[in-house]
Amino acid sequence: MFFSVWFCLFFFLEKMFAAYFDCPGGPENLYMKEVMKPNPGEGEVLVKVSASALNRADLLQRRGKYPPPKGASDILGLEAAGSVAGLGPGCSGRWRIGDAVMALLPGGGQAQYVTVPEGLLMPIPKDMTFIQAAAIPEAWLTAFQLLHFVGKVQEGERVLIHAGASGVGMAAIQLVRLAKAIPIVTAGTQEKLEATANAGAAAGFNYKNEDFSEKVLEFTQGSGVDIILDCVGASYWEKNLNCLSTDGRWIIYGLLSGGEVHGDLLARLISKRASIHTSLLRSRDKEASSGYQQCMQFDLKIYYSFESFLFKPVLNTFLSKKPQLELLLHSLENATKLSCKFFFLFLSDSSLNERNDTQDFLLCFMDTII
Ligand SMILES: NC(=O)c1ccc[n+]([C@@H]2O[C@H](COP(=O)([O-])OP(=O)(O)OC[C@H]3O[C@@H](n4cnc5c(N)ncnc54)[C@H](OP(=O)(O)O)[C@@H]3O)[C@@H](O)[C@H]2O)c1
Repeated sequence: MFFSVWFCLFFFLEKMFAAYFDCPGGPENLYMKEVMKPNPGEGEVLVKVSASALNRADLLQRRGKYPPPKGASDILGLEAAGSVAGLGPGCSGRWRIGDAVMALLPGGGQAQYVTVPEGLLMPIPKDMTFIQAAAIPEAWLTAFQLLHFVGKVQEGERVLIHAGASGVGMAAIQLVRLAKAIPIVTAGTQEKLEATANAGAAAGFNYKNEDFSEKVLEFTQGSGVDIILDCVGASYWEKNLNCLSTDGRWIIYGLLSGGEVHGDLLARLISKRASIHTSLLRSRDKEASSGYQQCMQFDLKIYYSFESFLFKPVLNTFLSKKPQLELLLHSLENATKLSCKFFFLFLSDSSLNERNDTQDFLLCFMDTII
């Protein structure tokens, strides 16, 4: 009796380490904090995290510009890969202790453990490492739902993907190809355009030194594109409408250049009978049922392509060139001596430029020990 009470107390009071910040600011504010280990609630699974990613949204959150949605963990980390370490009451039996899984999260991934509604878990494709798997959920599910749930992409359609070399962009190029549609991209450097061509882009234009809308019209022989995946927003609105086809779908999922539009947007829109759609994956993460459907469909359509190595999550390591990342590494290294055996930092953007403070990168904890 005494033993079991002690055991329960110990179980519920167990602690873990998590990457944390107390006040908004730069990466120097990050440190490794000891926090309560989460317990899986009804229908939830406890995952021991082996690798997690640091996305652009995490950087914004760390700077105080993107608070987590209501009810979500305030620990950073929108995705994680690891193994099942516990099952909450009411789980369906789909998962077993030790299963290798990856998950899309509303937060909490950059910690030793995270709890996840079981519907948001996906099995890790065969022969894929935890590090590779951790780069999949956010970028690939975003691209997948933009193309299939929102854009309803059809065979033969032309899809313009802005920020083509971004995490979401590289995933979108490969998914557009899988849908037998035609990916066209914009990016800011020649190196990025080459990376997108290697991933399957049919054409690519450098938005910094050419008018992408004219180039797109030239490439499509005047008809324009059927879908635009746009994470840039305001600064692109006019060019987007120039090269969107009649009845085209303009899908906005980010506002890298802001959201304030000056000009007769509505008149231009109606003249093309075009539609604007918007999407925000993070605010949907908690809705387990829609998440479940997304993951299942993602599973069936896409899973095989990862297993057969048709698809590649993009991981790059340019750490030495990134003072900011070094700072983060340093701050975490100092703090993680007790918690982590190995520690890796990867860029998940294929970019080679020095846009340091906005880069997307992947933070991996390997072999974490309590
Ligand atoms: N709505 C959602 O559910 C959702 C989910 C995931 C991500 N997102 C958003 O999608 C965007 C891409 O995410 P990610 O993680 O894939 O990005 P990422 O890997 O960090 O890459 C973003 C790229 O966008 C380009 N860029 C940045 N500012 C720009 C500007 N003002 N004009 C044109 N291009 C600009 C840069 O590439 P160049 O060098 O080519 O300019 C940059 O490398 C972000 O805005 C992110 O917040 C939204």
